[in-house]
Amino acid sequence: MQPNSCILAREACRVQVFCVTDTTTNNLNTTMYRTKTCGELRLANAGETVTLAGWVQRTRKMGGMTFVDMRDRYGITQVVVEEGSPLFEQANKLGREWVVQITGTVGERSSKNKNLPTGDIEIVATELRVLNESVTPPFTIEDQSDGGDDLRMRYRYLDLRRTPVRRNLELRHKMTMEVRRYLDSLGFLEIETPMLIGSTPEGARDFVVPSRMNPGQFYALPQSPQTLKQLLMVSGMDRYFQIVKCFRDEDLRADRQPEFTQIDCEMSFVTQEDILQTFEGMAKHLFRELRGIELEGAFPRMTWADAMKYYGSDKPDTRFGMKFVELKDVFAQAPGFPVFDEARYIGGICAKGQATYTRKQIDQLTDFVKRPQIGAKGLVYARVNEDGTVKSSVDKFYSPDLLASLKEAMQAEPGDLILILCGDDAMKTRKQLCELRLEMGARMGLRDKNKFSLLWVIDFPMFEWSEEEGRLMATHHPFTHPKDEDIPLLDTDPAAVRADAYDMVCNGVEVGGGSIRIHDPELQDKMFRILGFTEERAQEQFGFLMNAFKYGAPPHGGLAYGLDRWVSLLAGLDSIRDCIAFPKNNSGRDVMLDAPAALEQKQLDELYLKTDVPQA
Ligand code: AMO
Repeated sequence: MQPNSCILAREACRVQVFCVTDTTTNNLNTTMYRTKTCGELRLANAGETVTLAGWVQRTRKMGGMTFVDMRDRYGITQVVVEEGSPLFEQANKLGREWVVQITGTVGERSSKNKNLPTGDIEIVATELRVLNESVTPPFTIEDQSDGGDDLRMRYRYLDLRRTPVRRNLELRHKMTMEVRRYLDSLGFLEIETPMLIGSTPEGARDFVVPSRMNPGQFYALPQSPQTLKQLLMVSGMDRYFQIVKCFRDEDLRADRQPEFTQIDCEMSFVTQEDILQTFEGMAKHLFRELRGIELEGAFPRMTWADAMKYYGSDKPDTRFGMKFVELKDVFAQAPGFPVFDEARYIGGICAKGQATYTRKQIDQLTDFVKRPQIGAKGLVYARVNEDGTVKSSVDKFYSPDLLASLKEAMQAEPGDLILILCGDDAMKTRKQLCELRLEMGARMGLRDKNKFSLLWVIDFPMFEWSEEEGRLMATHHPFTHPKDEDIPLLDTDPAAVRADAYDMVCNGVEVGGGSIRIHDPELQDKMFRILGFTEERAQEQFGFLMNAFKYGAPPHGGLAYGLDRWVSLLAGLDSIRDCIAFPKNNSGRDVMLDAPAALEQKQLDELYLKTDVPQA
């Protein structure tokens, strides 16, 4: 692209909704194969002789003429071959996805296609060259494909020819360009760190790589470049970033891939406030440049404790209200319903205007919360009638006065539906109520993909108890700095210590997270002790970092954004898979490459490896 057209394209992008590279201008310059793209010709080009190269989307024979829809990355152009033309026979033999080169004259179409940017013109072909044939593709390569998920993944290179998929990659490209532009303008240096490293303690399992030259020893692929970026701070690279592949062997979900990309950043001589402002600025920049959306004002900040209390989640979807109301005190006024009397936590949400829910719909909700993944025992509901009276599923246990108190506590109005869950464990029950809230939000159309609600969740707990390990584990990672005022609690009540750790959340998705780091070796030692590391193990695993910290480590902190999650949010996708060129499926497999796969015995021997997989 010419420098000035680059600026023009950028300007053009600012006003587009899904801002992608400008596909309407000729960015190619003339090549041996084509003079124009399939996306750029307009009526103003009428009379020009042009050469296009691309794929045959489809051919149609109509009234003594053959029409060929030719496709490339930039769009679709109609080519017409008339019956008397020497090319007619050849044009009729063209198959779907053949690669062709066509020369011809641009003319005005008699019947225009308003759905195509090139829909006013067509090319009357004078030369036609088949560059390559194609076998029949396994699914139609159009916006609405007839290929199922598995088939499209197996032939992902064909799937990527489809406009909606290609657009996601264009948005991703544009996003990384804008990230670099923003961070470069603030003096950040892009520095690569190795992929073959030792284990990084981020809480997930590592992917490991055997070393042939060091028999019996393994590298680990980075779960994130956490320790390396901290070493770069010791080196004085006071503003670092990297758009970097990370690998985590964990269970997959719509927003999780085993191999994903972080926009990983670290800064020296900063406070938490500096970091929040820098990356809030980046979020605003990305929304402005990629979606043309101005996010006004500072992002709200919510403590982790409030997020759990009011939303039952550390990544609340704040596009809508329906905050939890704790009801234990209300029902304690007049005991009578044993389930509530015995529960340690009772919480409710108020679904505005949903009192019309039928018995069947309530039953569906009850089944929803009772699903094993959610695990609630049951659901209590109360409808507020138009006259203000309350009709509930627990009427027989409570007086109208008590139900009026419930209505008041919930700030419910006529026409509202109150939904209540209870349980022995407040945290567990809040998580169940969170699922119910999200379900109601979806049913009520409140989770609009074109609405964005961003916030910071701050003051995460420093540690969480792991049943599996039987010890405290770092909530973020072991290098996270405790809040200064909580440091004395490290000796007396470590579970109550809060961290200088923060997540950025958008529409209920954690799009980034980070923390201020410990740079004092003594405090770091203490942290390892609380986490149950012996001195030897801490030295073995993190000796390199601890040693580096003896040589003048600056105060530092950082954050990593999840690039895939950002792109999928901005593109309105349901899964991050759709913005990854070659993603893995839900079992972590690449069905196109058929990976992972067994190794040949020779390779195993070279690595001194033996597999011992139990027979299924
Ligand atoms: P964290 O583990 O919170 O922090 O990761 C940072 C961000 O990376 C994204 N992310 C993922 N995206 C897709 N698939 C996954 N499996 C996946 N796991 C994480 C999320 C998340 O917010 N080293 C620290 C950052 C720091 O402290 O600077 C770290 O990796 O969007």
